[in-house]
Amino acid sequence: MTGHANVEQEAASYLPLPSKSDSAEKTRKPRKRLTVEVAEEGVNGYAQSWYPLCFSSEVKAGDIKGVDFLNGRVIVFRAKDGNPRVMSAYCSHLGADLAAGGELIDDKVRCPFHYWEYDANGQCSSTGIGDPVPPGACLFKFPVCEKFGLIWAFNGEEALWEIPQIFPYSHDQLWIMPDIDPFDWPVDPWVLSANTPDWNHLRVVHGLESPDFHRVDDIIKWHKYGFHYHIDGVVRGVPISYDRGILGTTIFYMYGIYNGKWFGALSVFNQPKKGHTIHYPVVAILRSDAPTEAERDSKLKDILTVATNMANEDKGIMQAIRYRRGTLTKVDSALAKFFDYVRNYPRSNPAEDFLR
Ligand code: FES
Ligand SMILES: [Fe+2]
Repeated sequence: MTGHANVEQEAASYLPLPSKSDSAEKTRKPRKRLTVEVAEEGVNGYAQSWYPLCFSSEVKAGDIKGVDFLNGRVIVFRAKDGNPRVMSAYCSHLGADLAAGGELIDDKVRCPFHYWEYDANGQCSSTGIGDPVPPGACLFKFPVCEKFGLIWAFNGEEALWEIPQIFPYSHDQLWIMPDIDPFDWPVDPWVLSANTPDWNHLRVVHGLESPDFHRVDDIIKWHKYGFHYHIDGVVRGVPISYDRGILGTTIFYMYGIYNGKWFGALSVFNQPKKGHTIHYPVVAILRSDAPTEAERDSKLKDILTVATNMANEDKGIMQAIRYRRGTLTKVDSALAKFFDYVRNYPRSNPAEDFLR
């Protein structure tokens, strides 16, 4: 080939493209990203859901633990009867953090700064120095529960729903082990929950094959505070037959038969601040499948590894995504419904003034 031919060839590659025919012009869609705003948390409050704050084992009698929650901070402690309580962390006098040196005195929380005390309802009962308690001096008290080895708070004055047993066995028939994922997920909790109705990604990211993928709308049972479905399939060669669902916006669960044995697993989400999620995985097995302590520990660890690997498969995508509701297809019908569910889900921030 001569140098002359090369120059001609190169010049040809810079020639203007032939203009499109009229009909092509007519069918071309406008170049505009087609998206609908997603329901960002913290704009009109936060989802009124149950949020896991810490392990049960982290709060012993007499402890006051501080936890970041809903762009603010709360304290978690136990009353004398052992029941957990969750209140806003900042003293109503001058804002000292009650987790930074506060003490439990006869079931009351005493502030380390000037000894104001707060009773079981979060009301200030004494100012330490003896001055009358100013009207309105109180902490925000959250509805609380303790389940699956975790202490939870509900975002509201009162809980709109309770966390059910979830698994089809009573908890004394199970070994249940909670864990914490050290990764700070840079998305709101509902974005992680949206993976459950996102059947397309179950196939691509998690390797689940199932004939049920084409029956999405028949299979998913929606209820006021979540949805549930059963699916049979194969994950990377291992047969699975299980139930999956979402409660509120912060609880993902699954349970059923994997590789011939019953298992249960949760992924539950705290929201320490806007656009961030702390993920607690919880795993469960039948006690009857693990009669010795060694078997219990190794089987729970195996299930936790499966659950952790699954979360890790999502990690790279969730770390970098700019989550939006863009152009969807037929397989995304459950996901589309979930977007509407999140948009219509009750939101509130009754503790806002207390948490900051
Ligand atoms: S800041 Fe708590 S008693 Fe003063
Ligand atoms: Fe996923």
